[in-house]
Amino acid sequence: MKLALVVSGASGAELGLKFLEYLPEDVECHLVLSENARTVLKHERNRVIPHSDDDIAASIASGSFGVDATAIIPCSMNTLAKIACGIADTLGTRAAAVALKERKPLLLAPREMPFSPIALENMLKLSRLGVHIAPPVPGYYAQSESLEAMERFWIGKWYDLLGIPHELYRRWGSENGIER
Ligand SMILES: Cc1cc2nc3c(=O)[nH]c(=O)nc-3n(C[C@H](O)[C@H](O)[C@H](O)COP(=O)(O)O)c2cc1C
Repeated sequence: MKLALVVSGASGAELGLKFLEYLPEDVECHLVLSENARTVLKHERNRVIPHSDDDIAASIASGSFGVDATAIIPCSMNTLAKIACGIADTLGTRAAAVALKERKPLLLAPREMPFSPIALENMLKLSRLGVHIAPPVPGYYAQSESLEAMERFWIGKWYDLLGIPHELYRRWGSENGIER
């Protein structure tokens, strides 16, 4: 599986990087960090050295490269708005535009609180086009006892939506899953 992971400049950029940690070995992951994600990472985590997403000629900018699924974690309201309007002026937004035109799975994890009516309209528009709108919302039934366990729950839910196998959280009605 070829996966494009875009980390945009919403709070929680580190969560996007954690998403990488549990990927099975047969997933080829292309990582794009927006310029603003780099700024947020500098505020929130010093030891990450991210890369720019101005390489609009990268492989994942073309539909012919054959990315199977694209995830934007976290997705800023800026990036959300661009995708909803068809703006593709960065590698990240171009990757999303490619996913839409190729009818491939696209997952957005919008991070904002509260959401403005514009953001909600953008999410509804994209959801109606088949985009997974999956913000990092706590699932209390998972009974996570730490932020890390909650993050594993979110990542597991995102993997589910993208068809990536995992045992990151205990499913309802099941005893299987990683220790909390
Ligand atoms: C520390 C920090 C935290 C931010 N958190 C958010 C957020 O949670 N959601 C959001 O939509 N924008 C947030 N922003 C603002 C975005 O970074 C800004 O809108 C930027 O233009 C997004 O650019 P991008 O979509 O190209 O990454 C934050 C900015 C900073 C500096």
